Order: sequence, then C-alpha cells, then structure tokens
Amino acid sequence: MNLKSRDSFSGKFGVIAAAAGSAVGLGNIWRFPYVVGENGGGAFLLVYLLFIAAIGIPVMVSELLIGRRSQKNVFGAFKTLAPDKPLFMIVGIMGVGAAFMILAFYSVVAGWTLEYTYMAIGNNLLDMSSAQLSSFFKNFSESKTGPVIWMIIFMFLTAAIVIGGIKKGIERYTKILMPILLVIIIILCVNSAMLEGAGEGFAFLFKPDFSKVTGSVILEALGQAFFSLSIGMGVIATYGSYIQKKENLLNTAISVSIADTLIAVLAGVAIFPAVFAFNIDPSAGPGLVFETLPNVFNQMTGGYAFSVAFFLLLVIAALTSSVSLLEVVVAYFSEELGMRRVVATIVAASVITLLGVLCVVYSSVFKFFDFTSSNILLPLGGIFIAIFVGWILGKQKTKDELEAHGGKVRFVGILMIILKVVAPVAIGFVFLKGIGLL
Ligand code: PHE
Repeated sequence: MNLKSRDSFSGKFGVIAAAAGSAVGLGNIWRFPYVVGENGGGAFLLVYLLFIAAIGIPVMVSELLIGRRSQKNVFGAFKTLAPDKPLFMIVGIMGVGAAFMILAFYSVVAGWTLEYTYMAIGNNLLDMSSAQLSSFFKNFSESKTGPVIWMIIFMFLTAAIVIGGIKKGIERYTKILMPILLVIIIILCVNSAMLEGAGEGFAFLFKPDFSKVTGSVILEALGQAFFSLSIGMGVIATYGSYIQKKENLLNTAISVSIADTLIAVLAGVAIFPAVFAFNIDPSAGPGLVFETLPNVFNQMTGGYAFSVAFFLLLVIAALTSSVSLLEVVVAYFSEELGMRRVVATIVAASVITLLGVLCVVYSSVFKFFDFTSSNILLPLGGIFIAIFVGWILGKQKTKDELEAHGGKVRFVGILMIILKVVAPVAIGFVFLKGIGLL
C-alpha cells in the first residue's frame, strides 16, 4: 500500500469527529443504560468511570499510535511494527472476528432504531401508555420479518458509506449532527428530571451501593468501557492510520473519551428518572431505552419533533459507529487479502447480514455475540495492545510518535507504567474474576 494513496482526515476537528463518531453510538444510548440497569446502578457507574480514565484512555492512545506509525490496517500494523513477533497479529484476527460479531447484533439494534424512527415519524409512539410501549417493544423485537428488513436496510447504508471512502463518508456527517444529538439529550435530561418520582432514578444512578459489586459486574463495566470507546479491536488503530502527523494523539484520545463518557452519562440521566417514574424494571435488558424514552416524549412539549429528531440522530450515530466497524474488516480484506474495496465491502456486509439474521431469530446468538465481543475479545485485545506499546514498541518510539506533531507531550512516563503493568494486570484480573476463574 502506497502511503500517498491512503485516504486521510482533513484536520483536527475531522479526526476527533470521526473517532468520536465511532465511539458515540448505540453503545452510549442503548447499551450503557441497559448494562447499568442490570448491574445495579451507581457502583457500576463509578467502576466504569475508573476504567475509562485508567485503562480506556491509555489503550486508545496506544491504538492511535500503532495505526499512525504503521499506516496499516490492524493486522498489517503489527506485522509492520514487529515483523518478528507474529503473536501480536492475533489482535488483528480477534479484531476482525469482533467486528463481525459486533456488527451483527449492532445492526439489529440499529434496525430497531429505524423502526422507532418510522413509528415516530408516523406519530405512532406518542399515544401509547407505558405498558403498551413495553409490549410493543417485546412484540416487535420478537417478530422476525420487521427486524430483519430494518437490519438489512441499515447494513446496506453502512456498506454504501464505506464504499464511498473515509473522508467523504464519515467526517461530513459527524461534525454537525453529533452536537445536535447532544443538545437533544440534554433537553431530554431536563424533561426527565421534572417527572414525578425522578429522584429515585437519580439515586439509582448516582448513589453507589458497593454490595452490588461482584466479579461479573466489574467485568461488565470493563467490557462496556471498551465497547463504548471502540477500543481493543483495531477500529481506533485503523482510524489512527488515517490521521496526519500534525495531530496530537494524546489530546485526541482524551477529547474523544470525555465526549463519549459525557454522552453515556447524560443518556443515563435522561433514562433512569423516567425508568422509575414509569415503573419500568431497570434490569429490563436490551429493550430499556426503547421502552422508556417514548414515555418522556409523551410528556413533553414538542414531543413529536423531539422523538423524530432523536431516533433519526440515533440512527446516524449508529451509522458512524457501524461504518468504523466495517472499515476494520474492509481494510483487512483489501490490504491483506488483496480484494478490491468494493468487493471486500460487499462480501463482509453480506456475511454480517446473515449473522444478523441469526441474532434476530435466536436471542441466544444475540446475547452470545454481545457478551463475547465486549467482555472477552475487546479486553483481551486491550491486553495485547497495551503490552505491545509498553514492551515491544517501548518508551522512545512511543514518545516520538506522540510528539510527531512537534510539541512536547507530558505523562509519557505514567502512560508507559500503565501500559506495561497496570493495564495488563488489571484487565487480566478482571477478566479471570469475571468469568469465575479467580
Ligand atoms: N463504540 C460504539 C458505540 O458505542 C460501538 C463500537 C464498538 C464501535 C467497537 C466500534 C468498535 O456504539
């Protein structure tokens, strides 16, 4: 692959927008509230925030620099940077595998979002009671044809953007639309906070009850942190390979992580007061957002317009994430296996669509993909990435790459300690504890 022919992002805001576009998605608004609800609330949130700061940001910087230094897809990146260490190519393989799994269930949930957008446009959500909304979600998600059709439409849109190329495809949407989504979520928070009984929701989210923290809760928090930041599988490394030398990678990682975490926490603030106000079970699982938020739209002025805008923007947020996932597979297929980009995209999208159908038909496949990718593949990928930068690339090269934009970067010493020891040990421990081996 010749360097000049690699597509690249146009500048600072473009880079952050694209990486944030990957990070911010259904993970923040659909997955985060439902795992918080299943894992007992406040204490989970604290553990989650700790993981974002202590492990998430360092792993994100590592991925960015692996990608930018090698100018390759994840698989090729390790091969280029350490040709004598074939073990690390496993990150590439696990990453491509994770991309297949995540995209399969992700596009199903994105399909649900399309259905809700359609319902919102037809003004069919606002006159349902809370009980009706719950049974509507249940009936719809358990039916087969509707979810399959929407999922296929979503995969089609994802593939079309990936074929269009990185710069034109991704940057353009994220820059304007994500800030609008943020504003809508803030408005939802205000409306949700005013509901009667909202206090209980705030207490659930912000009052930690440490008796709820078990090995599996900690693993869920770690998995959610990796999933939400899009790290551990090469998405961020692949984007890193499109980032120009003049960008500051550490600042990029910090800004993206803060934006991502802010949106997740705000989604929690919008959802949990309403969960309690409308007597929904916080551990309702993957339907939580879809059962809860329409109730809030019901109650607020301008509910119709807000519901349409919200679900539409959520689809777009999901698209900027799904595109990044598909890009990992396509970059691998085209750069390593020599396929043409268009062919690679069509092949990958077709296989993923079939896996998505399995997720619709068998909820056990959905759960298996969801659990395995977030809680197993991404954290394991994270261990390898941290060890690679910490021990193989080493301090000098890391510093050089981080300072390639021409400025000084502080905290490289701390970063190295985290990457060499803290992250691998902590992830390994949480992982073994979470799956019950410790
Ligand atoms: N971070 C994305 C989201 O929150 C999902 C994702 C996971 C994207 C892993 C890429 C890689 O929706």
